[in-house]
Amino acid sequence: MARLLTRTQIQELVAVHGREVIEHRHMQIERRCFQHGNVSTFAHSIRVACLAVWIADRAHLWRHVDLKSLIRAALLHDYFLYDWHDWDDGEHRLHGFTHGGAALRNALRDFRLNAIERDSIANHMFPMTPTPPRYVEGYLVTIADKLSATRETLSLDRFNKGEVPA
Ligand SMILES: [Fe+2]
Ligand SMILES: [Fe+2]
Repeated sequence: MARLLTRTQIQELVAVHGREVIEHRHMQIERRCFQHGNVSTFAHSIRVACLAVWIADRAHLWRHVDLKSLIRAALLHDYFLYDWHDWDDGEHRLHGFTHGGAALRNALRDFRLNAIERDSIANHMFPMTPTPPRYVEGYLVTIADKLSATRETLSLDRFNKGEVPA
């Protein structure tokens, strides 16, 4: 991939390489779980995947990155399948530390994952959790996740939390 990818091309890559994950029936649970503000975990995961591909592209990392593993890890990084606002008696103290492991357990039940995908999901909360990612793909997921979360949390749209997508 020599030329820089457009937004549409990135979305197509995510759709193609992420198809198995996106179409899984358990992924539909994420549409009903809110992540930051009024952004569902599903929308957040798609956004993290697109942003991770964009960063890899703009940083010219394609020699070092497996595109399909990057996209699948990004799509599954928050595959914990509950609304964390309802969990932990609403205190959310543990969620940040434990949900990488929960996401990986669920993902292993539903998909065959390679080492890059497994490690990137498990350690995406670094540096909040102690183990750093082992692969470039994991760092890309971590960075894309933090950038997305910041934007989603600061967005004024969060005050319109209302409709849950069907
Ligand atoms: Fe997360
Ligand atoms: Fe996330």
